[in-house]
Amino acid sequence: MSRNGDTQILTKGQTAFDPQVYRKDFPVLSREVYGKPLVYLDNAASGQMPVQVMDVWKHYHEFYHSNVHRGVHALSQQATDAYEGAREKIRNHINAASEKEIVYTYGTTDSINLVAYTYGNQHISEGDEVIISHMEHHSNIVPWKRLCDEKGARLKVIPINDAGELDVEAYREMLSERTKLVGIVHVSNALGTINPVKEIVAEAHKWNVPVLVDGAQAMPHTQVDVQDLDCDFYAFSSHKYYGPTGFGVLYGKKDLLEQMQPFRGGGEMILSVSFDEIIYNKVPYKFEAGTPSIANAIATGAAIDYLNSVGLERIAAYEHELLTYVTEKLEQIDGLKLIGTAENKASVISFVLENIHPHDIGTVLDQQGIAIRTGHHCAQPVMERFNIPATSRASFAFYNTKEEVDVLAEGIYKVIELFS
Ligand code: ALA
Repeated sequence: MSRNGDTQILTKGQTAFDPQVYRKDFPVLSREVYGKPLVYLDNAASGQMPVQVMDVWKHYHEFYHSNVHRGVHALSQQATDAYEGAREKIRNHINAASEKEIVYTYGTTDSINLVAYTYGNQHISEGDEVIISHMEHHSNIVPWKRLCDEKGARLKVIPINDAGELDVEAYREMLSERTKLVGIVHVSNALGTINPVKEIVAEAHKWNVPVLVDGAQAMPHTQVDVQDLDCDFYAFSSHKYYGPTGFGVLYGKKDLLEQMQPFRGGGEMILSVSFDEIIYNKVPYKFEAGTPSIANAIATGAAIDYLNSVGLERIAAYEHELLTYVTEKLEQIDGLKLIGTAENKASVISFVLENIHPHDIGTVLDQQGIAIRTGHHCAQPVMERFNIPATSRASFAFYNTKEEVDVLAEGIYKVIELFS
């Protein structure tokens, strides 16, 4: 049920999912840009926030803002309860075995860096290998490349085919006793490809190699179950699934987290400090130095409540319908080439137009109120693989409509007309 109390009543021929029911929860979707209704198709960069989440964030600031784990006073206790309550919601949402496995971070990038600079630093030495894929976001390349360069280790890259799918056979052959970690993106931000993460993990585990999954783009589209995937680490950001920016999570298996050195030093991550000795706190607090992003953690719990009230299975089914619709529409446009045509895809569609630079496409679409992302999408190796400098990318959420897809297609025709 939406905030305004609407429920969906299905009539014959109507889709089982009506985005209009939920659009009302997202005030920004009713605004205009340059006098045109906003068509927001940049959800892979950041999802919009529903009022239900904003209300929770605001309520914290209005009624019980204070620091967590530190005060005996009522406000601090209330803040601590809400803050830790969010951890339980997150644990339950991704089916982690324990709340101790949910480390609060500032986002996916922060989570991956945490693993590189702790687990990676402790376990990777000269001659070792780290495996990532050709479709990683820079945040799952740069920390590993830096670490490998520092240690004299080797970064190996799983190739992708012309559709933007992983070469799983090549991956199998890369694994060896030299492999110390596999880092893999669950859903590619540039191509939309959904990777067979469970299989990737199972193969790595045959060699006792841990797997870190970059789940930033998967969280808004799929029901993630870390125990089913059996991944060792899973990193994600709140703002991709309708929560606030500046907050994320690192899921890690408890035994691994316990063996890892702390990342940042400061308050909260210690049990005791003297000039002779520091005793670290237990997990997950060992990794949470300093005053955390309290309101954002609490609001992330609210974003999970919201997602669950809509239903991730329904979201996935509807977004698939949207993806099919937009793919068919865009394929009809002369001179347009889709980049990323994997069989298993999330609702992200990248394309290039013959002789028109993506930046020009983005600018002309913007004038029509259509927000897409253009550029290399922080995935330059993907661009290199397809021999292009950049793509235009429309990325969809459950609140987008088929009418908006039509507006996008019309917009692209206008771009072609203008530049022809
Ligand atoms: N990684 C985000 C994107 O794909 C910012 O747009």
